[in-house]
Amino acid sequence: MKTLQDQITSTLSAFDHALINAQNMADLEKIKFDFLGRSGHLVGLMAQLKPLPLEEKQQFGPLLNSLKQQLQEKITAQETKFARQALEREQKQQQSFDVTAYTPRQIYGSLHVYTSLLTQLEDIFISMGFEVVDGPELESDYYNFQALNIPASHPARDFHDTFWVSSPGMLLRTHTSNVQAHVMQSHTLPLAVFAPGRCYRNEATDATHDFMFTQGECIVIDKNISIGNLLATAKTFLQKLFGKTDLDIRVRPSYFPFVEPGLEIDATCPFCKNGCSLCKKTGWIELLGSGLIHPTVLRENGINPEEYSGFAFGFGMERLAMIKYGISDIRLFRSGKIRFLEQF
Ligand code: DAH
Repeated sequence: MKTLQDQITSTLSAFDHALINAQNMADLEKIKFDFLGRSGHLVGLMAQLKPLPLEEKQQFGPLLNSLKQQLQEKITAQETKFARQALEREQKQQQSFDVTAYTPRQIYGSLHVYTSLLTQLEDIFISMGFEVVDGPELESDYYNFQALNIPASHPARDFHDTFWVSSPGMLLRTHTSNVQAHVMQSHTLPLAVFAPGRCYRNEATDATHDFMFTQGECIVIDKNISIGNLLATAKTFLQKLFGKTDLDIRVRPSYFPFVEPGLEIDATCPFCKNGCSLCKKTGWIELLGSGLIHPTVLRENGINPEEYSGFAFGFGMERLAMIKYGISDIRLFRSGKIRFLEQF
């Protein structure tokens, strides 16, 4: 077995060897840990002192203490050296830093396409005499469905893949039509409101569907409101949005429980005369769901349908933006991709 003296000598030379090879502070930390740490070499040697006779203790004790001191001093010296080298490197870098050499590409912020479209929509509707209102995204079954003539057992609920929340009877609104009953209850008549905002449906996403999207809802209630008012308003709105005074509309019968009659409104394709890929060669694009507000809905919200009538129409804002700007995938809106966003 090696004598303690031999071990002291070999420990010192192993330490010196490790220290010469140390490249940085992290290496030094490791050496400290290996030699001076709680279960390091030095502690191992100290432990061997205990069983030795007194005179050997007196011989080796001071030797071990001096070994410890040497190791510590060498480590400290090397730490100082590394710190100085780092500082010198940093100073050198700063001296040669050329402020004129850095010419970053200027990246300008831009409005999100949603914000930009929303501003345009608000401008259009305000110019037509509408008030812009907000509605709750966390909504009750009552406002999202029942007040709109969609009772619990109604099959129309199947089209609204609803995100129910843990509070009973509460959900994330599936459409901005939820605003209808709110404004009928809070506004005096006549009223004309535009309600844009986020909606949610629990469905698989693809290029034209997302679980979160935005809709706009227009509601007008007054005496003698007719389909003529609806069509004129819808046409003027779409002409302004697409910047085309010759844009025309057509209607097809449809069904929505809260309007009677229910109509789908199509516009002539803003991009072609004889059919293109956008309008699928038909020359028409489907844009709005609409109708005259159902008397049951008016009555449910305290409005006498004998005296007042109204129209409502709704649309997907992403769909409008996709058509207007030629965007191919609805998922891009929330993708956070700079190359998509900076185009608007
Ligand atoms: N809320 C309907 C939907 O999300 C769209 C809609 C249809 C709104 C007809 C209306 C309307 O105001 O009259 O599919």
